[in-house]
Amino acid sequence: MANRGARSAEGGPRGTERHVPVLLAQMLHALAARDGQSYVDATFGAGGYSEAILRAAPGARVLAIDRDPTALASGRWLAEQNPGRLQLSEGRFGELDRLAAAVDFAPADGVVLDIGVSSMQLDDPERGFAFQGDGPLDMRMSLRGPTAADVVSTADEAQLADILFHLGEEKSARAIARAIVTRRHQRPIARTSELAHLVARVLGREKIAGRHAATRTFQALRIYVNDELFELADGLAAAERLLAPGGRLVVVTFHSLEDRLVKHFFRERAAPHPHASRHLPPQVEPRPRPSFQFLNHRPVSPTDTEVAANPRARSARLRAAVRTDAKAWEGASGARWLPRLGQRSGVRAGPGLGP
Ligand SMILES: C[S@@+](CC[C@H](N)C(=O)[O-])C[C@H]1O[C@@H](n2cnc3c(N)ncnc32)[C@H](O)[C@@H]1O
Repeated sequence: MANRGARSAEGGPRGTERHVPVLLAQMLHALAARDGQSYVDATFGAGGYSEAILRAAPGARVLAIDRDPTALASGRWLAEQNPGRLQLSEGRFGELDRLAAAVDFAPADGVVLDIGVSSMQLDDPERGFAFQGDGPLDMRMSLRGPTAADVVSTADEAQLADILFHLGEEKSARAIARAIVTRRHQRPIARTSELAHLVARVLGREKIAGRHAATRTFQALRIYVNDELFELADGLAAAERLLAPGGRLVVVTFHSLEDRLVKHFFRERAAPHPHASRHLPPQVEPRPRPSFQFLNHRPVSPTDTEVAANPRARSARLRAAVRTDAKAWEGASGARWLPRLGQRSGVRAGPGLGP
């Protein structure tokens, strides 16, 4: 996953943990970057996508967004190497159209979303994303808002079970939630290793199908803490508003919950206009015109060679579409395809998780 000690082609400082970009060639192909155009890399991470776009189209400019201030701080060297061509902006991609407009990047000719966490985040025990090693149970990409420890210490048992079941697809969600609530009456669960051991004990083993028993629990908490699915739904709609006709939206996801959301979004927005039929009653509310055209109907997966070199790429899926000249749809949000959790996490609402 991480390529330790690697440096950029130009020898720029990259830290010791370097994220290896996934589906890089396929992303570049789908984006088809051209000189003179404006692109938004809404998940900057280690800057692998931004760097590749800047190189593929030497006359293009890129706005790079990330909610993690440490990612942007370590990407400054790339901005310095590309004066006037790479702008860094801290924020959530759920509002990428607003962020882009604020720095004169609207409309854009392409938007790229590479969803999830970077290797730098995952491999640093202090960030609290991983069950290997030990660190504070944090998991906040932005370093702001409630932590995963806050969630496990304040959410009630039913809410915890819902989070684990819907966002982790964890079949033993109820048993794990019950064990968390029992344990926290004795002492707080503040460390990643404490939660990982507790889950392994509930499930009766350390590994399930070759993965750590706590994989699904950690995934669920991470998605909840960072409001990831709502962010994705908002980000897709924001990209629809930002893109110029002919502009491209390229999305790389890493698990089925995310991919399902992107698939439904594109299917809805690219669905052909239904023909009027004299056999059918007139539609009360006419559908908006399609705002996207598919670039690929089926998701693009990594090659065996890429997976062998970077096992993290295994579950990556790329979907892409071209913006039409139709107006962005109003009032339709991908949120209705999301698992029903009753509420968003406290990331935007501020601290506090009460019902
Ligand atoms: C998989 S990494 C991207 C890697 C990048 N494509 C590269 O080649 O280095 C995902 C990045 O997106 C950021 N991120 C995740 N959700 C975000 C959101 N809602 N808004 C802004 N950034 C987000 C994370 O902080 C992380 O740095």
